[in-house]
Amino acid sequence: MAHIIVVGNEKGGSGKSTTCMHVATALARSGFRVGALDLDLRQRTFGRYVENRIAFAQKSGLALPTPDMRDLPEVEAGQLQPGENAYDHRLSAAVSALDAGSDFIVIDCPGSHTRLSQLAHSLADTLITPMNDSFIDFDLLARIDPETNKILGPSIYSEMVWQARQLRAQAGLKPIDWIVLRNRLGAQQMHNKKKVGKALEDLSRRIGFRVIPGFSERVIFRELFPRGLTLLDLKDVGVDNLNISNVAARQELRDLMRAVNLPGVDVAF
Ligand SMILES: Nc1ncnc2c1ncn2[C@@H]1O[C@H](COP(=O)(O)OP(=O)(O)OP(=O)(O)O)[C@@H](O)[C@H]1O
Ligand SMILES: [Mg+2]
Repeated sequence: MAHIIVVGNEKGGSGKSTTCMHVATALARSGFRVGALDLDLRQRTFGRYVENRIAFAQKSGLALPTPDMRDLPEVEAGQLQPGENAYDHRLSAAVSALDAGSDFIVIDCPGSHTRLSQLAHSLADTLITPMNDSFIDFDLLARIDPETNKILGPSIYSEMVWQARQLRAQAGLKPIDWIVLRNRLGAQQMHNKKKVGKALEDLSRRIGFRVIPGFSERVIFRELFPRGLTLLDLKDVGVDNLNISNVAARQELRDLMRAVNLPGVDVAF
C-alpha cells in the first residue's frame, strides 16, 4: 500500500503547496512512484504547479521526473450509498485509484477547514504541518498565556488532528507521524524565533508531534512556480553555478527530507 503524506494547516499561506511540490518532486527524482492530489479545489496551487512543470518539460524537451497529479473524480448522486458524503466518496475513489501504482501519495490541503481536509488527515501516515514562525500561526495549534507563555490548551487545528488520530485508532490503523515544520525562518527576529521555538517544544511533548526546521525565507521559492520547478531541478535547466542561497536551500530540503524520515527513503540527492 502507498504511504500517504498529507500536508495540512488551516492557516493560509504557511507553505503547504510549496512543501508538497518539493517533497513530491524529491521523491519522484529519487525514483519513487508518486501520486498527488490537491484538495484545494478552488486555488489548486499544487495542481497548477504540476501542470506548469509538465508544460515546461514539454516545451524545453527536458525529462523532469514529475508526480502523477490526479483530479478528484466526479460522482453522480446515484453512485453514493445512503447517507454517504459526496466528498468522502470522491477522495476515497481518488486514493484507491492511485494506491496500487504509487509508493507515496502526497496530498495538499486548503488553508481552511473543509470536509475533504478533515478526511484527508485521517488518511495520513505522515502529516506535515508547515507554519510561519509567528504566534499568529501558533494560535491554531494552541492557546498560550500572554504573560507566562504557558500553554493553556490545544486549539482548533490540533483538535482536528486529534479527531483524525481517534478515527485511525478506531479503524486499527497505525498512528499518524505528525511533523510541524518551521517555514520561512529568518536571520532576524531572534527573540521571537526563540520564543516560538520554546512554545513549540513544550506543545510537541504535550500533544505529540515532532518539530523540524523547514525552509528559510528565500525569494527563489516565489520564482520557481511559473515553470513548475523545484530547487532540485535547477541544474537540469542549465543553472550551473548555484549561488550560495540556492545551495543552502537545497541543503535545507535535504535536511527536511531526512528529518521527515519516510519509510525506505535514503536521501541521496
Ligand atoms: N521559505 C519561503 N521563502 C519565501 N517565500 C515562501 C517560502 N515558503 C513559501 N513561500 C511563499 O509564500 C506564499 C505561500 O506559500 P504556499 O502557497 O506554499 O502556502 P499555502 O500554505 O499552500 O497557502 P494556502 O493556505 O493559500 O494554500 C507563496 O507565495 C510562496 O512562494
Ligand atoms: Mg496552498
